[in-house]
Amino acid sequence: MVVPTSTLPANLQHQVDKYEKQFATPTETLNKIVSHFISELDRGNTDGTDPSGIPMNVAWVMDYPDGSETGDYLAIDLGGTNLRVVMVHLLGNHKFTTEQEKYPLPGPIRTTKVKEELFDFIAQSLDDFVKKLNPNGIPEGTVYPLGFTFSYPCTQTSIDMGILQRWTKGFDIPGVEGHDCVPMLMESINKRGTPIKVVALINDTCGTLVASRYTDNMTEMGCIFGTGVNGAYYERVSNIAKLEGKLCDDIPKDSPMLINCEYGSFDNGRKVLPRTIYDVEIDNESPRPGQQAFEKMTSGYYLGELLRKVLVSEYKMGNIFPEYEAGAREIEYLTTPYILDASFLSLCEADNTPDLRETQMLYKAKLGIETTYEERLFTLKVSSFIGTRAARLSICGIAAACKKMNYETCHIAADGSVFLRYTGFPERAAQGLSDVFGWDPSLKMDEHPIQIVKAQDGSGVGAAVIAALADARQKKGLS
Ligand code: GLC
Repeated sequence: MVVPTSTLPANLQHQVDKYEKQFATPTETLNKIVSHFISELDRGNTDGTDPSGIPMNVAWVMDYPDGSETGDYLAIDLGGTNLRVVMVHLLGNHKFTTEQEKYPLPGPIRTTKVKEELFDFIAQSLDDFVKKLNPNGIPEGTVYPLGFTFSYPCTQTSIDMGILQRWTKGFDIPGVEGHDCVPMLMESINKRGTPIKVVALINDTCGTLVASRYTDNMTEMGCIFGTGVNGAYYERVSNIAKLEGKLCDDIPKDSPMLINCEYGSFDNGRKVLPRTIYDVEIDNESPRPGQQAFEKMTSGYYLGELLRKVLVSEYKMGNIFPEYEAGAREIEYLTTPYILDASFLSLCEADNTPDLRETQMLYKAKLGIETTYEERLFTLKVSSFIGTRAARLSICGIAAACKKMNYETCHIAADGSVFLRYTGFPERAAQGLSDVFGWDPSLKMDEHPIQIVKAQDGSGVGAAVIAALADARQKKGLS
């Protein structure tokens, strides 16, 4: 991305300078955040129930995959926008094949009042998928083992269940929080008579880590930079104080245990994150104020809304779009919450036409607004502040986990729409890590000791490998 150097009128330049300061994340701020993060990871491992902290949810995966796992597994991934259904054939020797289908979530389902609508939608998609796999009918006696990727915070006391702690990412369906999601899904599956059994409930971060580790044994963390922000890593059982007295005697103290950090809720206690008034407003207006503090400043779900809030406040001050009356249809669009998503910022940042023509078309298409060059340049600059802050803040969880575990050289598997599609995000994240660790600035990204790499494709693979690991443990008679 080329940030044009042309000058803005004094009033807009003044505002740009102000936003640059407000959204700044200098290295000393990042260092403070990382050190608080480390103590919060430890606190969550001791007791993850304090709502001001990080849950550090125990995922009950106690083995590293080594690439030799085999078998056929169904996997579903209920993400922010799609349900993905995948048939994974693990072939061993670090190899696999998949067949998959995407089912877009019906928009209103995120906030439906009837929870069965969600579980019926998933079950119906599964039924459809399984029937497509077997055009001549499902062979007698088949039961498909299913790895259910459910990317919300869940309390698990075993791998095949999960009590939803709370909805995140704008989902808000009554009657699910505080309950085990597996029987709810099984009820909808059984109603249709589809021969499927849930064998593992998995967070997307855990799936990402395990899928990447299946093919790359330097992988130490799985992270999502998307609609939500979160990470997973293997902790040693002896470091998880809250498990004391809860483990069977056959589990050695130095066993690995996969932890879904749920660090989107980092700093709910408001100790270190540099929040602007726009962050405060987003939080107050969300269905769950006070929750997911870190996620609300970094994830794709909120980046468009941050920009929109800045634009609205500039419009109200008369600094941009002065020719539009307050009641104009274009301003109604602009004042509609969540009308802009992260792709708007990314496209503005990627626009390297001399007159920012692509941004001009984007404004017209999204909001109907005719812009001046200066307004577009202003938008580009604010987008880059918001995008840079998101990238630099979101690596603090990674830096904290690596410092805590003494990982000096490793790969961090990353997935999610922001990592994969936001212009310049991986570069900014790598720069943030480099600043925190103080690496030689002349090193290129692919020479960094800790590298955030694109995760192994296909979220179903992790779920399948986890299901296979769970199967293998059971067959060995281990708890
Ligand atoms: C939210 C969810 C978390 C998930 C993340 C990324 O933070 O609470 O479970 O891993 O989004 O999808």
